[in-house]
Amino acid sequence: MLETMVINFICWPSTKPAWILALLLNLVPMIQVHGQPPSSGFISIDCGLRNSSSYNDSATGLWFDPDDGYVEGGMRKQISQKFMADPFNEQQKTLMSFPDGSRNCYTLPSTIGKKYLLRATFTYGNYDGLNKTLDGSLFLFGLHIGVNSWEAVNLTNWDHTSILWKELLTVAPSNSLSVCLVNLGSGIPFISSLEL
Ligand SMILES: *[C@@H]1O[C@H](CO)[C@@H](O)[C@H](O)[C@H]1NC(C)=O
Ligand SMILES: *[C@@H]1O[C@H](CO)[C@@H](O)[C@H](O)[C@H]1NC(C)=O
Ligand SMILES: *[C@@H]1O[C@H](CO)[C@@H](O)[C@H](O)[C@H]1NC(C)=O
Ligand SMILES: *[C@@H]1O[C@H](CO)[C@@H](O)[C@H](O)[C@H]1NC(C)=O
Repeated sequence: MLETMVINFICWPSTKPAWILALLLNLVPMIQVHGQPPSSGFISIDCGLRNSSSYNDSATGLWFDPDDGYVEGGMRKQISQKFMADPFNEQQKTLMSFPDGSRNCYTLPSTIGKKYLLRATFTYGNYDGLNKTLDGSLFLFGLHIGVNSWEAVNLTNWDHTSILWKELLTVAPSNSLSVCLVNLGSGIPFISSLEL
């Protein structure tokens, strides 16, 4: 159920051509993904996947890759065992955590000038056993496309098993797109899945 939708327009200044215009969609959690076109032309990453081979997700019909080749660094984690039995998307069970570095980026191949839908999901699942989303302190980190800020991922007061979704329509500025997690000093950035 889509409850709210915030649409912003971001214009990149100066040297970049005027076509770099992004439509920002701020989607609330628990939106089901159905009716996806087949995987060809899609990049779907199940972040933190321990298996080194890709798999065909029966729920979405999409082919999910592990992080290898898309990002350097990071630690593979999985949500708390006690949530594993919940009817999660397969992709929410593992995540990639980035305790080191102020900025860690996924690099996705793209075609310059082409428009893409980016979708990132975040499920904390108390993976570190620290109850970070519900301990009363601020828990948030930044999400950037290249050097441009996309949005903050604010998981403060966020239920352990709720999925936070971020979606963005963007035009590729080159033949690769960087999606970066930025440590803002309010918790360790992580990501559960990333789709292009
Ligand atoms: C890893 O992937 C291979 C090939 O798809 C599969 O046979 C194996 O069961 C998987 N291992 C785990 C732990 O999921
Ligand atoms: C994934 O599996 C579904 C059936 O579960 C099949 O229809 C689809 O073609 C498969 N996708 C790929 C890329 O193999
Ligand atoms: C997390 O911490 C908050 C505040 O201390 C507490 O109320 C809550 O019960 C804790 N939740 C879990 C699952 O540990
Ligand atoms: C993050 O969310 C918390 C709880 O909803 C809110 O109090 C806080 O102002 C938010 N911070 C930012 C920077 O959005």
